[in-house]
Amino acid sequence: MTTLVTQARAAMQHAWAPYSNFHVGAAIEAADGTVYVGCNVESASYGLTICAERMALGAATDVDPPAAPCGACRQLLAEFGLDLEVTAVGPASEKRWTLAALLPDAFTKETLDR
Ligand code: THU
Repeated sequence: MTTLVTQARAAMQHAWAPYSNFHVGAAIEAADGTVYVGCNVESASYGLTICAERMALGAATDVDPPAAPCGACRQLLAEFGLDLEVTAVGPASEKRWTLAALLPDAFTKETLDR
């Protein structure tokens, strides 16, 4: 348990919480002993904020062909710039996009300042 708490605290350092300033980390241990970590990531589209626990769950997926990020995930990624390169990696193949291609005419935090 101590290790999990330490890993959750480390993950918390990566939280992105400019709107609430409430930083959260989480660590989940799977039955095989693998540990998945996550932190909260907030969005200018507030309702898309992802909690640390859900991010840790999402880190545990591995499918082929790799899944493209869903619409909500694309919006959350936009928090960090439309020039992001997005790579989805599966066990046997990968796919690449720019975020701008995945999310045309994006709503961003700059939109809030208009
Ligand atoms: N948050 C979590 O990450 N996990 C919880 O269980 C409660 C809330 C985050 C979401 C948001 O970024 C911030 O804490 C304030 O609600």
